[in-house]
Amino acid sequence: MVQSTGPKKIKCAVFISGKGSNLKSLIQFSKKKNSPISIELIISDNTKAKGLKFGKIFKIPNNVFNYKDKIIAEKKIILKIKNKKIKLICLAGFMRILSKNFIKSFKGQILNIHPSLLPKYKGLNTHLRAISNKEKYSGCTVHFVNSKLDSGKIILQKKVKISKADTAKTLAKKILIQEHKLYPKAISKVFIL
Ligand code: GRF
Repeated sequence: MVQSTGPKKIKCAVFISGKGSNLKSLIQFSKKKNSPISIELIISDNTKAKGLKFGKIFKIPNNVFNYKDKIIAEKKIILKIKNKKIKLICLAGFMRILSKNFIKSFKGQILNIHPSLLPKYKGLNTHLRAISNKEKYSGCTVHFVNSKLDSGKIILQKKVKISKADTAKTLAKKILIQEHKLYPKAISKVFIL
Protein backbone atom coordinates (compact mmCIF):
# COMPACT_ATOMS: atom_id res chain seq x y z
CA MET A 1 0.00 0.00 0.00
CA VAL A 2 1.39 3.40 -0.94
CA GLN A 3 -0.02 6.33 0.98
CA SER A 4 0.10 9.68 -0.73
CA THR A 5 1.05 12.64 1.42
CA GLY A 6 -1.82 14.90 2.40
CA PRO A 7 -4.78 15.53 0.16
CA LYS A 8 -2.59 15.83 -2.92
CA LYS A 9 -3.46 13.42 -5.68
CA ILE A 10 -0.84 11.22 -7.29
CA LYS A 11 0.17 12.60 -10.65
CA CYS A 12 -0.40 10.04 -13.34
CA ALA A 13 0.43 9.57 -17.03
CA VAL A 14 -1.60 7.21 -19.20
CA PHE A 15 0.07 5.55 -22.19
CA ILE A 16 -2.13 4.56 -25.15
CA SER A 17 -1.79 3.38 -28.75
CA GLY A 18 -5.39 2.98 -29.86
CA LYS A 19 -9.01 3.58 -28.92
CA GLY A 20 -8.37 4.76 -25.39
CA SER A 21 -11.56 3.47 -23.78
CA ASN A 22 -9.58 2.56 -20.66
CA LEU A 23 -8.04 6.04 -20.74
CA LYS A 24 -11.53 7.51 -20.75
CA SER A 25 -12.62 5.42 -17.79
CA LEU A 26 -9.46 6.39 -15.89
CA ILE A 27 -10.06 10.08 -16.58
CA GLN A 28 -13.63 9.78 -15.31
CA PHE A 29 -12.37 7.95 -12.24
CA SER A 30 -9.68 10.60 -11.61
CA LYS A 31 -12.37 13.28 -11.44
CA LYS A 32 -14.18 11.60 -8.55
CA LYS A 33 -13.66 13.18 -5.17
CA ASN A 34 -12.10 10.14 -3.57
CA SER A 35 -9.87 9.21 -6.45
CA PRO A 36 -6.20 9.07 -5.45
CA ILE A 37 -4.96 10.11 -8.91
CA SER A 38 -4.97 13.07 -11.22
CA ILE A 39 -4.14 12.46 -14.87
CA GLU A 40 -1.64 15.06 -16.03
CA LEU A 41 -0.39 13.58 -19.25
CA ILE A 42 -1.37 11.26 -22.09
CA ILE A 43 1.46 9.61 -23.97
CA SER A 44 1.22 7.76 -27.25
CA ASP A 45 3.45 6.21 -29.90
CA ASN A 46 0.77 6.74 -32.54
CA THR A 47 -0.39 10.06 -33.98
CA LYS A 48 -3.53 8.30 -35.20
CA ALA A 49 -4.54 6.85 -31.82
CA LYS A 50 -8.27 7.53 -31.51
CA GLY A 51 -7.91 7.93 -27.76
CA LEU A 52 -5.97 11.15 -28.21
CA LYS A 53 -9.34 12.84 -28.58
CA PHE A 54 -9.91 12.38 -24.85
CA GLY A 55 -6.91 14.60 -24.19
CA LYS A 56 -8.64 17.35 -26.14
CA ILE A 57 -12.05 16.73 -24.59
CA PHE A 58 -10.77 16.69 -21.01
CA LYS A 59 -7.98 19.24 -21.57
CA ILE A 60 -5.13 16.92 -20.66
CA PRO A 61 -1.91 17.38 -22.65
CA ASN A 62 -1.31 14.74 -25.32
CA ASN A 63 2.26 13.90 -26.24
CA VAL A 64 3.02 11.65 -29.19
CA PHE A 65 6.55 10.26 -29.48
CA ASN A 66 8.12 8.93 -32.63
CA TYR A 67 9.18 5.35 -31.96
CA LYS A 68 11.41 4.99 -35.03
CA ASP A 69 14.19 5.06 -32.49
CA LYS A 70 12.89 3.51 -29.28
CA ILE A 71 15.88 4.55 -27.17
CA ILE A 72 15.46 8.20 -28.10
CA ALA A 73 11.69 8.04 -27.68
CA GLU A 74 12.00 6.56 -24.20
CA LYS A 75 14.66 9.12 -23.19
CA LYS A 76 12.28 11.92 -24.16
CA ILE A 77 9.38 10.30 -22.35
CA ILE A 78 11.43 9.84 -19.17
CA LEU A 79 12.43 13.50 -19.27
CA LYS A 80 8.85 14.62 -19.78
CA ILE A 81 7.54 12.45 -16.97
CA LYS A 82 10.22 13.52 -14.50
CA ASN A 83 9.68 17.19 -15.37
CA LYS A 84 5.97 16.85 -14.69
CA LYS A 85 6.63 15.01 -11.41
CA ILE A 86 4.51 12.08 -12.54
CA LYS A 87 4.54 9.31 -9.95
CA LEU A 88 2.34 6.73 -11.62
CA ILE A 89 2.26 5.37 -15.16
CA CYS A 90 -0.83 3.50 -16.33
CA LEU A 91 -0.41 1.53 -19.53
CA ALA A 92 -3.77 1.25 -21.26
CA GLY A 93 -3.49 -0.47 -24.61
CA PHE A 94 0.07 0.79 -25.18
CA MET A 95 1.47 -1.49 -27.89
CA ARG A 96 5.18 -1.01 -27.18
CA ILE A 97 7.30 -3.03 -24.82
CA LEU A 98 9.09 -0.76 -22.35
CA SER A 99 12.84 -1.28 -22.07
CA LYS A 100 14.40 -2.65 -18.88
CA ASN A 101 16.03 0.73 -18.37
CA PHE A 102 12.68 2.52 -18.59
CA ILE A 103 11.05 0.13 -16.13
CA LYS A 104 13.99 0.53 -13.73
CA SER A 105 13.52 4.31 -13.80
CA PHE A 106 9.96 3.93 -12.47
CA LYS A 107 10.21 0.88 -10.25
CA GLY A 108 6.86 -0.05 -8.70
CA GLN A 109 5.20 2.90 -10.43
CA ILE A 110 3.99 1.29 -13.67
CA LEU A 111 0.68 -0.55 -13.97
CA ASN A 112 -0.78 -2.38 -16.95
CA ILE A 113 -4.14 -3.86 -17.86
CA HIS A 114 -4.19 -7.07 -19.84
CA PRO A 115 -7.25 -8.76 -21.37
CA SER A 116 -6.79 -12.25 -19.95
CA LEU A 117 -6.58 -14.02 -16.63
CA LEU A 118 -2.82 -13.86 -16.28
CA PRO A 119 -0.58 -15.85 -16.15
CA LYS A 120 -2.68 -17.32 -18.95
CA TYR A 121 -2.45 -15.78 -22.42
CA LYS A 122 0.31 -13.24 -22.12
CA GLY A 123 0.98 -11.18 -25.23
CA LEU A 124 -1.31 -10.66 -28.20
CA ASN A 125 -4.50 -12.31 -29.54
CA THR A 126 -5.60 -13.36 -26.09
CA HIS A 127 -9.30 -13.75 -26.93
CA LEU A 128 -8.75 -15.92 -29.97
CA ARG A 129 -6.36 -18.16 -28.06
CA ALA A 130 -8.73 -18.49 -25.08
CA ILE A 131 -11.64 -19.44 -27.38
CA SER A 132 -9.54 -21.88 -29.45
CA ASN A 133 -8.45 -23.59 -26.24
CA LYS A 134 -12.11 -23.97 -25.26
CA GLU A 135 -11.66 -22.06 -22.03
CA LYS A 136 -14.86 -21.58 -20.03
CA TYR A 137 -13.64 -18.27 -18.63
CA SER A 138 -11.34 -15.47 -19.56
CA GLY A 139 -11.16 -12.00 -18.07
CA CYS A 140 -8.79 -9.18 -17.33
CA THR A 141 -5.88 -8.45 -15.04
CA VAL A 142 -4.31 -5.30 -13.64
CA HIS A 143 -0.70 -5.85 -12.65
CA PHE A 144 2.56 -4.10 -11.88
CA VAL A 145 4.96 -3.99 -14.80
CA ASN A 146 8.30 -5.72 -14.45
CA SER A 147 10.90 -6.54 -17.06
CA LYS A 148 9.09 -9.70 -18.25
CA LEU A 149 6.06 -9.26 -20.53
CA ASP A 150 2.73 -9.38 -18.66
CA SER A 151 4.41 -11.01 -15.67
CA GLY A 152 4.53 -8.47 -12.82
CA LYS A 153 2.69 -8.84 -9.52
CA ILE A 154 -1.07 -9.12 -10.00
CA ILE A 155 -3.20 -6.49 -8.26
CA LEU A 156 -6.71 -7.51 -9.30
CA GLN A 157 -8.46 -9.80 -11.77
CA LYS A 158 -12.01 -10.16 -13.01
CA LYS A 159 -13.37 -13.35 -14.53
CA VAL A 160 -15.67 -13.22 -17.56
CA LYS A 161 -17.64 -16.24 -18.81
CA ILE A 162 -17.02 -17.31 -22.39
CA SER A 163 -20.24 -18.43 -24.04
CA LYS A 164 -20.42 -20.88 -26.95
CA ALA A 165 -21.43 -18.11 -29.32
CA ASP A 166 -18.52 -15.83 -28.40
CA THR A 167 -16.07 -14.72 -31.05
CA ALA A 168 -12.84 -12.88 -30.32
CA LYS A 169 -14.74 -9.68 -31.03
CA THR A 170 -17.71 -10.28 -28.73
CA LEU A 171 -15.44 -11.56 -25.97
CA ALA A 172 -13.19 -8.51 -26.29
CA LYS A 173 -16.25 -6.30 -25.90
CA LYS A 174 -17.49 -8.14 -22.79
CA ILE A 175 -14.05 -8.05 -21.20
CA LEU A 176 -13.52 -4.37 -22.02
CA ILE A 177 -16.62 -3.47 -19.99
CA GLN A 178 -15.02 -5.17 -16.99
CA GLU A 179 -11.64 -3.55 -17.68
CA HIS A 180 -13.20 -0.14 -17.27
CA LYS A 181 -14.26 -1.05 -13.74
CA LEU A 182 -11.20 -3.07 -12.80
CA TYR A 183 -8.47 -0.51 -13.54
CA PRO A 184 -9.88 2.17 -11.19
CA LYS A 185 -10.51 -0.48 -8.52
CA ALA A 186 -6.93 -1.72 -8.76
CA ILE A 187 -5.56 1.82 -8.48
CA SER A 188 -7.70 2.42 -5.40
CA LYS A 189 -6.36 -0.80 -3.93
CA VAL A 190 -2.72 0.24 -4.31
CA PHE A 191 -2.94 3.98 -3.71
CA ILE A 192 -4.98 5.61 -1.01
CA LEU A 193 -5.42 9.30 -0.45
C1 GRF B 1 -7.59 -3.42 -23.77
O1 GRF B 1 -8.24 -4.64 -24.01
C2 GRF B 1 -6.39 -3.63 -22.88
O2 GRF B 1 -6.56 -4.63 -21.93
C3 GRF B 1 -5.33 -4.04 -23.87
O3 GRF B 1 -5.57 -3.25 -25.01
C4 GRF B 1 -6.94 -2.86 -25.03
C5 GRF B 1 -6.99 -1.37 -25.09
O4 GRF B 1 -8.28 -0.87 -25.30
N1 GRF B 1 -4.01 -3.93 -23.29
P1 GRF B 1 -8.57 0.69 -25.18
O5 GRF B 1 -7.59 1.42 -26.09
O6 GRF B 1 -8.40 1.09 -23.75
O7 GRF B 1 -9.99 0.86 -25.65
